[in-house]
Amino acid sequence: MTNKYMYFIANWKMFGDLRTLNTLNKVIIFTKKIKKNKFKLIYCPPSTLICPLAKTLKKTSIEVGAQNCHESENYGPYTGQINSKMLKSVGAKYVILGHSENRLSGESDKLINLKITAAIKAGLKVIFCIGESLSEKRKKVTKKILAKQIKNGLNKIKNKKRILIAYEPFWAIGSGLIPKESELFETIDYIKSKARGSKVLYGGSVNLKNINNLKNINNLDGFLIGGASQVSNNFIDIIKKTYN
Ligand code: 13P
Repeated sequence: MTNKYMYFIANWKMFGDLRTLNTLNKVIIFTKKIKKNKFKLIYCPPSTLICPLAKTLKKTSIEVGAQNCHESENYGPYTGQINSKMLKSVGAKYVILGHSENRLSGESDKLINLKITAAIKAGLKVIFCIGESLSEKRKKVTKKILAKQIKNGLNKIKNKKRILIAYEPFWAIGSGLIPKESELFETIDYIKSKARGSKVLYGGSVNLKNINNLKNINNLDGFLIGGASQVSNNFIDIIKKTYN
């Protein structure tokens, strides 16, 4: 049971179309019934849905974020890319950066730092993902990896309040596995000591079953949720269970 102000962030990854947005009516009704300031709900849909979703959610407390952005703060000849200014102009308030699915396809700490810098400059808040691989966990170098990702990713970023760090171990994403409670508590504490001022969330296989354990980790500030955020009833039940 918690009474803490928590973030629940839905990362829809490459799922959803215009029809999917209708399913959010349930979530909108749910948030309207809840006492204000209890939690913050943020949806990060694919880029194609940011603008219509921001319009749908205009009169609600739910906010919208993007899943990545280009590092340039200006327009430019970058086919297929979108920068943070463009995201902000269609209603995004947040952007997820450094997600392991993008790190695995070649994003370096340096590139992630450039993206974070541009996003903050454009007025977005950043959901900065960090995490170790399974082999790094087995080698017991998790803290070393996280320290490096934080140091390089947040290089010269002064206002840590605009950064929400999401600790997402690669091996926990989509696998049904989560860290042990004691391990997770210790890791979150460690991340907070390295990035003072930032909120720290957990992501990786958060679901209706394990939320009962995860909610006991009282240094967590919320959750970044993939698969389980795509069905509105599941997402609502995860939030309800966190506060029960
Ligand atoms: P799952 O919740 O589907 O494991 O995804 C986690 C994630 O990658 C959120 O960014």
